[in-house]
Amino acid sequence: MAILPVLVYPDPELKKVSEPVDFNEDLSEVLKDLLETMYDAPGCVGLAAPQCGIHKRILIVDASRNPKVESKYGLMIIINPIIEYSEGEVLAREGCLSLPDLTANVKRAQKIRARFWNENGEEREIEVSDFEARVVLHELDHLDGILFLDRVSSLKTDVFRRKQYMKKEDKAKDKPAVPQTNAPETAGS
Ligand code: NI
Repeated sequence: MAILPVLVYPDPELKKVSEPVDFNEDLSEVLKDLLETMYDAPGCVGLAAPQCGIHKRILIVDASRNPKVESKYGLMIIINPIIEYSEGEVLAREGCLSLPDLTANVKRAQKIRARFWNENGEEREIEVSDFEARVVLHELDHLDGILFLDRVSSLKTDVFRRKQYMKKEDKAKDKPAVPQTNAPETAGS
């Protein structure tokens, strides 16, 4: 297991389109590393494999890490996702580990139905809404080389600087840990 380095904008690797997963390969190590990397980042609710330079259509989502929102599914390992249906439109703030200094107001569908395969190669279908749908859609964008900056209506009025999350090393010292409730509406993903 390893915490993987996360690529940061403007790394051109973030713009690549990822390949579908072929279930003949052993994904266990990659999945463990992605999970460890996501859970190591305070407040992080999602991570896509290409953010770690792995250009496969894999994403992990755990909206339950944000205590201010409802999460229907908790941790999901989502492979080769397809959005089958979406409705509504909501403008809300997002962050991203690959854009650590920024947040932005991004329009996303309010509700989606998605089909994907889990870590065992079993087909799954989910219906998620609001925050959880936003996280899935944000991560899915990474598989196609799309960042939230590509989605904002205006770079001038919809993008904001933010303070960095406190690093884990700092937490281990005397400073108090940042409570989850201090996380912005959508934590880095
Ligand atoms: Ni992201």
